[in-house]
Amino acid sequence: MSAAPAELAPDLERGLKRLKLRAVRRMAPEVLQTAKVQRWAPEELLRTLVEAEIAARDEANLAARLRAAAFPVRKSLEEFKVAESAVPQATYEYLASLEWIRAKENLVLVGPAGTGKSHLLVALGHAAVAAGLRVRYFSAIDLVEALYRGLADNSVGKILDALVRSDLIVVDELGFAPLDLTGGQLFFRVVAAAYERRSLAIASHWPFEEWGRFFPETVTTASLLDRVLHHATVVVTSGESFRMKEARSRAAPRARAIEAATAPKSTKAAR
Ligand SMILES: Nc1ncnc2c1ncn2[C@@H]1O[C@H](COP(=O)(O)OP(=O)(O)OP(=O)(O)O)[C@@H](O)[C@H]1O
Ligand SMILES: [Mg+2]
Repeated sequence: MSAAPAELAPDLERGLKRLKLRAVRRMAPEVLQTAKVQRWAPEELLRTLVEAEIAARDEANLAARLRAAAFPVRKSLEEFKVAESAVPQATYEYLASLEWIRAKENLVLVGPAGTGKSHLLVALGHAAVAAGLRVRYFSAIDLVEALYRGLADNSVGKILDALVRSDLIVVDELGFAPLDLTGGQLFFRVVAAAYERRSLAIASHWPFEEWGRFFPETVTTASLLDRVLHHATVVVTSGESFRMKEARSRAAPRARAIEAATAPKSTKAAR
């Protein structure tokens, strides 16, 4: 049985603390002991500690990026059933490759309730975070509200600067509520700030020709769509709501059981 690893010398402890090498500090006593017992080459010892520090930092950065993204739910691409969606396989593969984010292109998903728009947006966002990219999720209402608050304390410019530090800005549920003149102009500023610099991924119930319903100004709507669609993948989702399908399939076994229990005997025997 090997003895418990010796503690690090106080000067080493202090040095590693000052250099903020937390993983090295935590693991060094045990790794040093193993290295001694197993007669590691000096380089092997250094490599083990360096790799441990890098792994710990990558993990902490991932967790921080995930927090900063502020996704409302956790959804993954693995859970997304492409064949049951209206997204063409080739389009899905391009989106899942995240190439469009690196190319600063946009994504617009348009279609009725429950057809997977938010799922796809959030799942792509999670994949982008896992790939080391910075993502920020908003519902359109929350985004405009944040900018409105910025108007009150003169910080709209700062908020926009912070936003375009993200590689991908996700705006879900655009058009759930109409925007007033100021709200429309604030949203336009986000689109203009991101144009050809960052990727925007937007989901809406409304086809483009209806965007005038929730944007108060025709000119802003046209200029906004012009920028959003210049370099964009557009996916029109369709079909029945997944929520409805799920509700029905949950209800189905119960309905069948009731039907079986209440059906006349002769009918049952005939089946
Ligand atoms: N292709 C799919 N594969 C797996 N699950 C799906 C798919 N499409 C939708 N779902 C699931 O169905 C539910 C509704 O989907 P989602 O929230 O993405 O719809 P939506 O298009 O954003 O609707 P809304 O316009 O009402 O916001 C979610 O739980 C989602 O995970
Ligand atoms: Mg949604």
